[in-house]
Amino acid sequence: MEEFTKEQLAKYNGQDGEKCYIAYKGKVYDVTESMLWDEGDHQGMHEAGIDLTEEMDDSPHDDDVMEDFPVVGTLVD
Ligand code: HEM
Repeated sequence: MEEFTKEQLAKYNGQDGEKCYIAYKGKVYDVTESMLWDEGDHQGMHEAGIDLTEEMDDSPHDDDVMEDFPVVGTLVD
């Protein structure tokens, strides 16, 4: 499985036709197909291309929302 550093993940911010990836608990998910992550923006609060593990606690939903999206790699230091 592909490994992403934070710097590499930042490229996939969903903007200008770029893929939209988010990291959660060490896994990198591809949410490009989601209307709710259009242009890498989620609810005007979160952006793609970063690790959002800690932010999940503040969200109104459970982390089962991640299950519908493919894992494309792992996040490494
Ligand atoms: C879906 C709000 C944070 C990932 C949703 C939905 C809402 C929402 C309203 C659609 C309804 C639902 O599934 O419950 C928010 C708000 C957040 C937040 C207000 C912050 C305060 C996050 C974070 C992540 C995330 C931190 C990732 C770590 C997702 C995903 C979906 C989703 C993957 C499913 C998208 C789809 O099905 O197309 N969010 N969210 N959200 N959220 Fe969030």
